[in-house]
Amino acid sequence: MLVRVRTGAVLGVSAVPVDVEVESTVGFPGFHLVGLAGGAVQEAKVRVQAAVRNLGVKLPQKRITVNLAPGDLRKDGTGFDLPIAAGLLAASGELEPPAIEGLQLVGELALSGEVKPVRGVLPLAIAARREGVRGLVVPEANAYEASIVEGLEVLPVRHLGELVAWARGGTLQPAGPPPAPPEPAAPLDLADVAGQEAAKRALELAAAGGHNLLFFGPPGSGKTMLARRLPGILPAFGFEEALEATVVHSVAGLTRHRGLLAERPFRAPHHSISDAGLVGGTSIPRPGEISLAHHGVLFLDELPEFRRHVLEALRQPLEDGEVTIARAGRSVTYPAQLMLVAAMNPCPCGHHGDRSRACRCTPHELMKYRRRISGPLLDRIDLHVDVPPVPPGQLGTGGAGEPSAAVRERVMRARALQTARAGPRVARCNARLRGAALRRLCALDDGGRRLLADAVARLGLSARAHDKVLRVARTIADLAGAERLSAEHVAEAIQYRVLDRPT
Ligand SMILES: Nc1ncnc2c1ncn2[C@@H]1O[C@H](COP(=O)(O)OP(=O)(O)OP(=O)(O)O)[C@@H](O)[C@H]1O
Ligand SMILES: [Mg+2]
Ligand SMILES: [Zn+2]
Repeated sequence: MLVRVRTGAVLGVSAVPVDVEVESTVGFPGFHLVGLAGGAVQEAKVRVQAAVRNLGVKLPQKRITVNLAPGDLRKDGTGFDLPIAAGLLAASGELEPPAIEGLQLVGELALSGEVKPVRGVLPLAIAARREGVRGLVVPEANAYEASIVEGLEVLPVRHLGELVAWARGGTLQPAGPPPAPPEPAAPLDLADVAGQEAAKRALELAAAGGHNLLFFGPPGSGKTMLARRLPGILPAFGFEEALEATVVHSVAGLTRHRGLLAERPFRAPHHSISDAGLVGGTSIPRPGEISLAHHGVLFLDELPEFRRHVLEALRQPLEDGEVTIARAGRSVTYPAQLMLVAAMNPCPCGHHGDRSRACRCTPHELMKYRRRISGPLLDRIDLHVDVPPVPPGQLGTGGAGEPSAAVRERVMRARALQTARAGPRVARCNARLRGAALRRLCALDDGGRRLLADAVARLGLSARAHDKVLRVARTIADLAGAERLSAEHVAEAIQYRVLDRPT
């Protein structure tokens, strides 16, 4: 007897259909699993047999072959347990095959028959709707993310026994709508930050033009506090972006008992992170922090403390907006359109340039510290911002500043100008302007040209730094609603090149 059960495999951030074919024939009793099954899938044999046994079902003394088709696609993960078990039960007459026809199943089984959550249910659900399946049977903890997909019946199960009872005429409760996203505890508002007008301005520029940003200042000056307020001034998180971001989180296994991400992600990995943790990878491909920050913010606090090769691994994805992980002939691509915000102290002791405290570092220590961040990485950061300590008398004035909502409105107006300008060959935000588009959209008037040439000569700016000044000046002009760049825009932009100047 041959039974076919539908399931799917996750590849990167999308999913493709996989058929589980189960055949039981007369012959020497045994259980064979074929179809490029990875380690975790091979172990499914053990879990599935135990789970079925624990239902009180005696498998027939037959030769059982399970094939996962297409056979040239490598399968990983534990989500094949449930469809294999369903096929096995159908092939041995415990479950009528028509009951599961047109359904797609995914889930891991515990030996007891309990159905455990798996990674990637959201992309599987998106693919299932595209394929027109009748319903998707998922572990209960994954039901919320599957329910984001409209027009797909989601059938959550907690135990293999529920599936059997259902196939025999019982009922399965379809999943209700996903729970309303929890209200953000206390939204972090820029109004809470006392003083720091220059740093707030830089944060607004970063949000308006999509520029990466580096805060530079002594301990306790408010760098972390400022960085955490960036998502709150970025353009509103629309459904399409939220869906793309949630898919990445689903693939990483972070969506249990959760639906759509309600806010732009803010990821702040510790500086001890590995390159695989940051950009993704390991033996079973998994999104790294840069992909978990897709459409949101990646915050690297204490930047010089990160291992150098870890930071170097960031360079390509920052440029491309995605990361491709190749291993053993396979490769997967994860999106990584993020804004990078980094923070560092000006020197190892933290007080270089601080008027109230003396710096104890030698010039050599200072140079070594700054050298930990390579030129090419600094090149990908358009805004370098000095954050001096707030005078003690000013700290109490927090709460009186301009609220994030007002800043966000200006940001959205500036972004709208960029979107309107974006032709098919021009980037959507200023931070991504390169080459001809950069020169055309950032053409300077005479005054601007003279000022920039003078700054390049006086500060020893590189050609790359020159382009960054232009991109930032474009954003300054967009925030001011000015079509043409002029000297005042350039003058402000030059201030954000602190670290390009020879020290
Ligand atoms: N401008 C400010 N307005 C209000 N509170 C502030 C301000 N600056 C600092 N603080 C207070 O000081 C604390 C420390 O700030 P924060 O952690 O952001 O400093 P930091 O620059 O990141 O320091 P470090 O270099 O040690 O990481 C904040 O939690 C906040 O309570
Ligand atoms: Mg900090
Ligand atoms: Zn120092």
